Amino acid sequence: MDYQPLKYIYKASGTPEAYTLLLLHGTGGNEHDLIGLGAEFGSHINLLSVRGNVLEHGMPRFFKRLGMGVFDEQDLRFRTEELLTFIREISAKEAFDSTKVIALGYSNGANIAGALLVTHPDALAGAILFRPMPPYKELPSFTSADHVPLFVSSGQMDPTVDPESIQQYVAALTTGGFSVHHVTLPAGHNLSQQDLDLAKKWFDNEFR
Ligand code: MLT
Repeated sequence: MDYQPLKYIYKASGTPEAYTLLLLHGTGGNEHDLIGLGAEFGSHINLLSVRGNVLEHGMPRFFKRLGMGVFDEQDLRFRTEELLTFIREISAKEAFDSTKVIALGYSNGANIAGALLVTHPDALAGAILFRPMPPYKELPSFTSADHVPLFVSSGQMDPTVDPESIQQYVAALTTGGFSVHHVTLPAGHNLSQQDLDLAKKWFDNEFR
């Protein structure tokens, strides 16, 4: 199967050395969903918001799944490479620095960002993972030589994510060299204001 282009919205900050936030929506979302949230990180940041290429009963996703929380790992591998190829191509077209891309993903979007991190540990300059779960049953071995900074937020009452698997995932990311800031919030699967406030604070510290 050939790679397909992803639908996207790009908003340039006008600052040549700017970081780019790569916005990755949850299941059933689209490229418009996270634009407002991304804008909260400041007007000095470029925004690249993309729509997942997979449809599940009409709902866009970034990769196929076999059931709730059970991923089609072959498709995940393919879609991750497709996304990375797309980012590189679009960075040339839109003239942003592909070495300064920070993913911000929610749920399914956080999961493809996680898949990208564990297969290409230094492809991103950082990542914000809201309500992620481990992208693979068995994670590959990986090393982030650059100690890429990650913000991870989980919801204490999230019915879709097994808390133990998140602890193991965070531990594996840390052992693999990532610099992980993990918070567990009194929330469910939905995002809360606290997620955004803490992520922005972390972002300002890391990427000022
Ligand atoms: C996924 O499929 O990535 C997770 O189950 C999260 C979701 O999209 O509901």
